[in-house]
Amino acid sequence: MTNAFSLYATLKDSIAAHRARAATVGLGYVGLPLALTVSEAGFPVTGLDLNTGRVAAINAGEKVISYFPEDRIRNAVAAGFRATSDVTALAESDVILICVPTPLSDTRDPDLSYVIRAGETVASQLRPGQLVVLESTVWPGATATVLKPILERGGLRAGEDFFLAFSPEREDPGNDTFTTRSIPKIVGADDAKSRELVETFYSQFITKVVPVSSLATAEAVKLTENSFRTVNIALVNEMKVAFEAMGVDIWEVVRAAATKPFGYMPFYPGPGIGGDCIPVSPVYLSWRARDVGSSLPIVDLARTNNDGAPDLIAGRVAVELSKCGAAVQDARVLILGIAYKKDVEDTRESPALAILNRLEAMGIACDFHDPYFPVLPATRDHPELAGRASVALSAEAVAGYDAVLVATDHSGVDYALVAGAAKLILDTRNAFARPEAGAVGGRLVKI
Ligand SMILES: NC(=O)c1ccc[n+]([C@@H]2O[C@H](COP(=O)([O-])OP(=O)(O)OC[C@H]3O[C@@H](n4cnc5c(N)ncnc54)[C@H](O)[C@@H]3O)[C@@H](O)[C@H]2O)c1
Repeated sequence: MTNAFSLYATLKDSIAAHRARAATVGLGYVGLPLALTVSEAGFPVTGLDLNTGRVAAINAGEKVISYFPEDRIRNAVAAGFRATSDVTALAESDVILICVPTPLSDTRDPDLSYVIRAGETVASQLRPGQLVVLESTVWPGATATVLKPILERGGLRAGEDFFLAFSPEREDPGNDTFTTRSIPKIVGADDAKSRELVETFYSQFITKVVPVSSLATAEAVKLTENSFRTVNIALVNEMKVAFEAMGVDIWEVVRAAATKPFGYMPFYPGPGIGGDCIPVSPVYLSWRARDVGSSLPIVDLARTNNDGAPDLIAGRVAVELSKCGAAVQDARVLILGIAYKKDVEDTRESPALAILNRLEAMGIACDFHDPYFPVLPATRDHPELAGRASVALSAEAVAGYDAVLVATDHSGVDYALVAGAAKLILDTRNAFARPEAGAVGGRLVKI
């Protein structure tokens, strides 16, 4: 029996027996749910995170993700799950899952610095027989050409001494219908042993595992999914403008089109795209395409369209204010929902922040209401907005604004109160079509 085969067979047995110790590197929106899911399947799990405050909060069983039941964390901690900032925990692990951010750099290019740093940390603890899986979204080729050389620096070889795979995270924050366990998992590796091990590992706790032939294929799957969304969101936002000129309501069109049982999938208009996935993945894909002498003009056009969406909305706010006789420079606007997405406490790349910024550049005074953000945190794109406080919703407060702009339609907002008190509602999410919003007293414009 070769050494590689014996390492592979030993790890496979310990995974099948749920004896294998797992570690996630990163305990964010992806790493924490994943760590808990692995722990709930009966594996001993440690979560490594550099953020010591987050580590302490998790170990104390506190709610660190708003839509996430804290008893899940408490139960996992009671069952032995531990968060730590001590990197030596990785040496004791058999399976290491890297879930660190992959944002854009200041020049809007892929920023793999977190993956590189995490790779260096893993490399410092790497020992024969471990399986390392990258879950962070990266461009096709990055695991093999960026992460693997870092892991091999100490002399161990991927596919022989340790095993290396890529498995893209498909978490959808705030979505109650699909869980880490029920979302099918793509796994890819460049050698058969790594592929079999990664498939065996995820099959222990994920309903359906889909193996693909290489690391780059698995990386490409994730970028394909997100670029598909990017293009379709741009398309529906473009149609919104054209249909409005034709006197047709895009929301009614999409709802009706969605009744077709094949060949159509609904995408809804909005104020632009946010989060760290949909705006970021197409950049990674496009960047890599250029790197290999190719191009993706349709994806690039969709990106341009989406990037321009907050500007279009801000311009439309100014037009609608003028139509109501308000002087734009003296106007006051209340933005409902500052998070990038409904029912999520995340402002990364939020179009609402970009709109707020554009409106204020026009001289419009803006406030916001968001139950998830009593106070705005510092964000990379808009550090100047840090510390701004959410306005409490009351009929009197709402009536004091020239317009209320719905940027994000959180569930917990009293839309009926807004409907009754606002002079002008500018709705990017069709939030006032829901029955509980009741009758709108002032003017309502879907924009
Ligand atoms: N959030 C999502 O909905 C989502 C969905 C699918 C895929 N992804 C991808 O998953 C990856 C992780 O995203 P996320 O949303 O979980 O990020 P996040 O910012 O919520 O969490 C990342 C965590 O990693 C920690 N970290 C950073 N560097 C570290 C290091 N060297 N060692 C240990 N900990 C470190 C940070 O402190 C942070 O807690 C990204 O590539 C993202 O694109 C995210």
